[in-house]
Amino acid sequence: MSTKETLTIVDNRTGKSYEVPVADGAIRAMDLRQIKTGPDDFGLLAYDPAFTNTASTRSAITYIDGDKGILWYRGYPIEQLAEHATFLEVAYLILRGELPTQKELDEFTWQVTHHTWVHENVKKFMDGFHHDAHPMGMFISTVAALSTFYPDAKVNHDSGHRDLQILRLIAKVPTIAAFAYRHILGQAYAYPDNDLSYAGNFLNMLFKTTELKYKADPAIERALDVLFILHADHEQNCSTNAMRSVGSSGVDPYSALAGAAAALYGPLHGGANEAVLRMLRSVGSPARVPEFIRQVKAGEAKLMGFGHRVYKNYDPRAKIIKRMADEVFAVTRPSPLLPIARELEHIALQDEYFVTRKLYPNVDFYSGLIYEALGFPVEMFPVLFAIPRTAGWLAQWQEMVGDPEQKIARPRQIYTGPACRDFKPMGRR
Ligand code: SDX
Repeated sequence: MSTKETLTIVDNRTGKSYEVPVADGAIRAMDLRQIKTGPDDFGLLAYDPAFTNTASTRSAITYIDGDKGILWYRGYPIEQLAEHATFLEVAYLILRGELPTQKELDEFTWQVTHHTWVHENVKKFMDGFHHDAHPMGMFISTVAALSTFYPDAKVNHDSGHRDLQILRLIAKVPTIAAFAYRHILGQAYAYPDNDLSYAGNFLNMLFKTTELKYKADPAIERALDVLFILHADHEQNCSTNAMRSVGSSGVDPYSALAGAAAALYGPLHGGANEAVLRMLRSVGSPARVPEFIRQVKAGEAKLMGFGHRVYKNYDPRAKIIKRMADEVFAVTRPSPLLPIARELEHIALQDEYFVTRKLYPNVDFYSGLIYEALGFPVEMFPVLFAIPRTAGWLAQWQEMVGDPEQKIARPRQIYTGPACRDFKPMGRR
C-alpha cells in the first residue's frame, strides 16, 4: 500500500503516466494542464459546471459537514453561538477569527453604532423608487450607490481602509433595509437610535411611529438577533462566490456586496424564504399537502425551503429556527401557515422521493414563518437574510483580498460554438 500523497494518472490516449500531488483531499486543477496528447494540445481542464466538486479557495471562516449537519463559525458550533452570543459578537468572531473580549466587543459595538447613519442624499435616491418596488431591489441598488459616497473605498490593499468600509457596511445595511421598508409603506424614515442594540435599533427604524423612544419586545429583539447569527455566514455559497469573484477584480466592497446581494435575491438561494411563504399560502391547508407533494414529485413544483447543495441531513440552522418559532409565536400569534409547514415536513421526511434525494428542511423553511409573525411582508424576507450575511460576505472578501494564492477570478470554458467562418453579406443570409 503506497503511503505517497499522490495520484498516478495514466493517459490511455498516449500511454503516458503522470504523478499528481494530493493535499487536503484535493488535487490542483492546474496539475492536469500538463496532460497533453501533443505539443499543440492546450492540456487537460477540469469540467465542473456550478462548481459541484471544486474548491475555489482555502478558508478558515466557516466549516460545514453536510452529512452530519454540522456548522461551525471559526470552530464554534452554531448551536452554542445561537444560545450564548449576540450577533455583533458573532460578526466580530467571523471577521477577526476570535470571540471578542468585553473591551473589544464594546469598542466594536461603539464603532458600528456610530456608523449607522447614511448620507441624506441616500433618501433622495431611495425616494425615486416606485411605491411598490421590491425592497431587495432597493437594497441592492442602494448598497451599490454607497460606493459613490466613499471613493476612498477603492483602496483595498490598506487594511485600515478595509476595516472602515467593513464597519460602514455592517452598520448601514440595517438602515438601508429599514428605509426600504418604510418607503414601500409610504412612511417617513425613522433614524437610528444609538441607545439601542443592533437588532433593537433595526426594529426601531422599522416600526417606530409617534413614540419618542421606540422599545422592542425583548423576546422579539432576541429572536431577530439569533436569526442574524444563524444567517451570518455559510462558506462558499452562491452569493459568497459572487462576493469573492466580483471582489477579485479589485472593485470596492460596496459594489462587490451589491453583487453578492443580487445573487442572494434568487429564489434558489436567499430568495427561498420568500418563496416558502408564497408556497405555503398557495397550498392553503394541511389537507391539500398530499396533492402538492404529488405535484413536487411529478416535477411540477419545487418544495421550497427543502434541499441543499451541501447538507444531506437536517440543516442545523433549521432545527434551531424551528424551535425558536414556538417562542416567537408565544409573543406574537401562531402562524396559520405553521400547520401546513409541519405537515409538509412530516410527509416529506418519510417520502421515498425526498429521502432518496436527501432533501431536508434548510434554513429558509421555517425562517419566513417567524418573519411573518414579526410583521414583515414577504418581500422583506431576502433583505432580512442580506443584513446578517453582510458580515459573512465581508469576512470572505477580506480573506480573499489577503490570500496570496488568489487573483482575478477567470474560469476557462469548453467551446461548443461553430468553427471559424467568413462574414456573410446580407444578400446571402
Ligand atoms: C440557501 O449554499 C448555501 O450554503 C446556501 C444557503 C446559505 O446559507 O447561503 O444555505 C442558503 O440558499 C438555502 C437553499 C434555499 N433554496 C431553496 O430552498 C430552494 C429549493 N431547493 C432547491 O432548489 C435545491 O435543493 C437547491 C438549489 C438548494 C440545491 O440544489 P442542487 O444541489 O443543485 O440539487 P439538485 O437541484 O441537483 O437536486 C438534486 C435532486 C433533483 O432531482 P433529480 O433531478 O435528481 O430527480 O433533488 C431534487 C432535484 O429535482 N430537488 C428537489 C428540491 N431540491 C432538489 N425536488 C423538489 N424540491 C426541492 N426543493
